[in-house]
Amino acid sequence: MRKINFTETVLRDANQSLIATRLPYDKFESILETMDKAGYYSAEVWGGATFDVCLRYLQEDPWERLRKIRAKMPNTKLQMLLRGQNILGYKHYPDDVVRKFVEYSVKNGIDIIRIFDALNDVRNLEVAIDETVKQGAHASGTICFTTSPVHTLEKNVAMVKDLQKMGVKSIAIKDMAGIMGPKDAYDLVSAIKDAVPELPVVVHTHCTTGLAFMTYLKAVEAGADVIDTAISPFSGGTAQPATETLAYALRQLGYQVDLDDKVLVKMADFFKGVRADFLADGTLDPISMATDTQCLNYQIPGGMLSNLISQLKMMNAIDKLDEALAETPKVRADLGYPPLVTPTSQMVGSQAVQNVLAGERYKVVGKEIKAYCRGEYGRTPAPIDAKIQKKILGNTPVVKGRFAASLEPEFEKTKKELGDKAKSDEDVLSYIAFPQVAMAFFEDRATGFKKKKEAAPVKPAAPAAPAAAPAPRAPFAGPVYYAAVPVPQTPGYVSRAIQPFAASYQPSYLKMGDREDCTGNFTITIDGKPYQVSVAKADTPTAAPVAAAPVAAAAPAAAAPVAAPTPAPAAAPAPAPAPTAVAAGETPVNSPMPGNIFKVECKPGQAVKAGDVLVVLEAMKMEIEVSAPVDGTVKSVSATVGTAVNTDDLLVVLG
Ligand code: CO
Repeated sequence: MRKINFTETVLRDANQSLIATRLPYDKFESILETMDKAGYYSAEVWGGATFDVCLRYLQEDPWERLRKIRAKMPNTKLQMLLRGQNILGYKHYPDDVVRKFVEYSVKNGIDIIRIFDALNDVRNLEVAIDETVKQGAHASGTICFTTSPVHTLEKNVAMVKDLQKMGVKSIAIKDMAGIMGPKDAYDLVSAIKDAVPELPVVVHTHCTTGLAFMTYLKAVEAGADVIDTAISPFSGGTAQPATETLAYALRQLGYQVDLDDKVLVKMADFFKGVRADFLADGTLDPISMATDTQCLNYQIPGGMLSNLISQLKMMNAIDKLDEALAETPKVRADLGYPPLVTPTSQMVGSQAVQNVLAGERYKVVGKEIKAYCRGEYGRTPAPIDAKIQKKILGNTPVVKGRFAASLEPEFEKTKKELGDKAKSDEDVLSYIAFPQVAMAFFEDRATGFKKKKEAAPVKPAAPAAPAAAPAPRAPFAGPVYYAAVPVPQTPGYVSRAIQPFAASYQPSYLKMGDREDCTGNFTITIDGKPYQVSVAKADTPTAAPVAAAPVAAAAPAAAAPVAAPTPAPAAAPAPAPAPTAVAAGETPVNSPMPGNIFKVECKPGQAVKAGDVLVVLEAMKMEIEVSAPVDGTVKSVSATVGTAVNTDDLLVVLG
């Protein structure tokens, strides 16, 4: 009888996927000793977003959390997720930092480190795997699953063989978007088992699209040894399939499952209570527990889709959603088919939005995409489109070899700089990974978290959001609708004249534009109130504000977002401020998009060359560099760090 092992994800991935990692330690402490008796192969408890969220929102030291879990669960292997050379962040760190991070993760209680790279570039896994092996822990070498014309079984097998040479003790297949179908899983697991029969294969997926149970079943049939599951109250939707269900099904099919059902029942009872609390305060949106097959149509992960939508909403351009969705796979192809996982999913999504909003592809390019094109993230699965790379980089040289090899060691230097602000080497690592957040945490900690006690209960905001992010999501109180949205700029039918959105999550919008004839009078019921809405053709330039105008409703302010959690967009975008400071012969440099001023890199009187960076904007979780269009002298600087700007707002005047 073949034994199938289980990894429980409730404390990390399911927590991250369903409630944005907002589960505080205090809330699950009392179940840890029970969990320890369930018979899991391992419990995924750390890494991913837990680290950042602990510091940023929960006023918890992530290292201390890990030590406490370790103490309560002496019999279960504790597992974490590590982004290879990116550790837990979005950029590459020098090797000494990666090594220290691995060393201290193991010292604080981690047994298994699942190590992945967004590009599946094994050079970015090398150091983390090597250090994990040196520390005597289990390195699980990970393939990020994706589909594209260049992702073949042969390539995956080649990667697995490289990982084996590096000393990994298992191979994990990470399907972050839940797009791996049963046949994909069967073929891939079979190929890996043929290539490296001695290595256990772990399969990780999400229920988002509804494929997961079938995928696990076929993976197990093909020889998978471990599957990732979540205890039932935290399973399904954007999280993993239910532990109990798979245990039941696999036993029925004749596999050995060493889980204690009585313990699982206790755990499920406990987490039902936790789930109820998070449902009640709005942190858990019931929509994230549902099946959503849009991913299968668009081939973009659910998290990325909701990001796209919130970015477009923030920019008052939700009418461009269809265009942005169509642009996303094109950007991905241009960039050499990166798997869509943090951070590449954010980068590709944001670039697609920028391409659509700017009206010209790659006119506005984020700093991260520039770095990606320079090769700083590693080797892309297929070459980047040469013309686009040239447009983005100009004559900037491309990195040869492994980027991190060119980075100066950082740990000892940072430790010195921090002085007694850091109380431990772990603090230094927290600071290196998330400087501002960690510093704020250290300061809070020094006051005994006085601020936390005074502040209102922590509600989820957009994860790792820049200052321009929408306000924290309001508690979920039934569907939230936007009754009127900006009218499409392109001629044709008014698509999505009415867009229902549930909070900031996946939309189930009405694609009225898909119908042959979507004009006419409609009665739309919102929160029990009927609204009369006329939808007309907008194929002449004069037929501009169709959506807002004919909404004749009983309720006041029907044309404004009804009960919207975010501020209502202005009826018309504010006109750009008059460039008063610009005289003849001077060149204004305006903001290419809405965002926040992140850095000002020029001073009045300074001589600049065309292409020099003047201002860095933070927009859509990316840094956007605004460069001098011509050679000249800086006459005046209107941009102030920390302030919000709109498209075409004046930033700098050159003379
Ligand atoms: Co996952």
